[in-house]
Amino acid sequence: MADRVIIFDTTLRDGEQSPGASMNVAEKLRIASRLEELGVDIIEAGFPAASKGDMEAVSQVAQHLKASSVAGLARTNKEDIDKAWAAVSGAVKPRIHVFIATSDIHMEHKLRMSREQVVESAVAGIKYAKKFTDDVEFSAEDASRSDRDFLCRIFEAAIEAGATTINIPDTVGYAIPEEFAELVKYVKKHTPNVHRAVISVHCHNDLGLATANTLAALSAGARQAEVTINGIGERAGNTSMEEVVMAIKTRSNCYPLTTGIDTTKIYPTSRLVSMLTGMIVQPNKAIVGANAFAHEAGIHQDGMLKNPMTYEIMRPETVGVSSSTLVLGKHSGRKALNDRLRDLGYRLSPRELDTIFTKFKELADKKKNIVDEDLEILVSENIMDISEMFILDTLHVVSGNRVSPLARVGMIVNGKPVEKESTGNGPIDATYRAIADITGTESEMLRFTVSALSGGTDSQGEVTVRLKEKGLVALGRGADPDIITASAKAYINGLNRLEYLKRHPVSMGDMI
Ligand code: KIV
Ligand code: ZN
Repeated sequence: MADRVIIFDTTLRDGEQSPGASMNVAEKLRIASRLEELGVDIIEAGFPAASKGDMEAVSQVAQHLKASSVAGLARTNKEDIDKAWAAVSGAVKPRIHVFIATSDIHMEHKLRMSREQVVESAVAGIKYAKKFTDDVEFSAEDASRSDRDFLCRIFEAAIEAGATTINIPDTVGYAIPEEFAELVKYVKKHTPNVHRAVISVHCHNDLGLATANTLAALSAGARQAEVTINGIGERAGNTSMEEVVMAIKTRSNCYPLTTGIDTTKIYPTSRLVSMLTGMIVQPNKAIVGANAFAHEAGIHQDGMLKNPMTYEIMRPETVGVSSSTLVLGKHSGRKALNDRLRDLGYRLSPRELDTIFTKFKELADKKKNIVDEDLEILVSENIMDISEMFILDTLHVVSGNRVSPLARVGMIVNGKPVEKESTGNGPIDATYRAIADITGTESEMLRFTVSALSGGTDSQGEVTVRLKEKGLVALGRGADPDIITASAKAYINGLNRLEYLKRHPVSMGDMI
């Protein structure tokens, strides 16, 4: 029988370490619930000692989930472990994940500790964590650049101290598949008590090899894969869950392995993570990119029509991508809309559905074909909005190659109409200056991204902004066939979220 691979998802911890991808508690809860529905075995919800926000998010996730284990990351010191335990203790299945670096370069320059001190610290940390829970994972940070015999020595001591999972991270994404598989085999062979623990791997994608390294390690005997949705994570990211899971499923002849993942929920989960982190998925991304199942060349299309297996190794439905990208149009009814929203993972109350149906009809008047991304934007703009302090009323922009950009913006602020005009370094800059002036806000723009939601000149432009004010960070999104209107909507959406956060610093809202 095929061996089961444990899927350990760290989208909410390592994934959140992607520059600009921080999430608030409510956003983390939404993603955690979706990961649980997807069938993830262990969800690493954060690093509780890192910040109050992380602590709150991990404990909220721990209290809400029923089926998945919830892990909190900690260094090997008591304070970190106390905080990790305080955060995960409410979980049905809590895990403490302790780590310390084991490569000479990290021990000498970062930790300034000898090998003996590192082993001692790891053992003490694991024993301390063991007082709280049986489920303790130990990670040897920078394992792929560590001395192999020292690695086996620390793993042996870790297992002796009570670690039930030992993790081999390729922290800097330096490994290549053959070498990484060899490392896993070496650890298996030279760690005498290794049969008492699960071997895990955690790869980064600096050389674009994270998925290949993870699969090679699984073939070599690792049985836990640490992954993130869309491969988001520190620097070039982590191993992408969808790639590992679908490689195992599609090439079962090479990987006699199974996972507990319901693959039909992969695509909606990918969209949700992209939407809440503001990390746009590249169109040619394997499995979940917009072009992953698009066939452009005539000869391919001809083959596809005759038999999809000519050019398709997976059916789009297997990963939750609808076989047709054109889902709805202006004649579609409420039921069709609700069915599609449910396929995308949204369960709306009758009142919420009324709101979305009205907005959907408005959009269908402007845009012929409504695709999944349009629906997601409608939901995020109209259901997930948490405050309506600022509302865009009118926008008039002058732009061109021989005029100075000028924007006149009319808004409703706390129920009162206000209008201002501003120039700027381009029409969007002018619009943003006018909005900042009207709202009296001083947020810093951490990120501004624009993308087209689908092909064609009638596509909606989607704008994502990440704003920071008074130490609070909020994501704003807006979509509109007019890119400047989309930018204004995104900015105002972000400002509303900031206002909400100012009033509810760690509130989780009701957005699960
Ligand atoms: O990349 C890494 O080494 C990590 C560890 C904390 C597991 O993220
Ligand atoms: Zn990592």
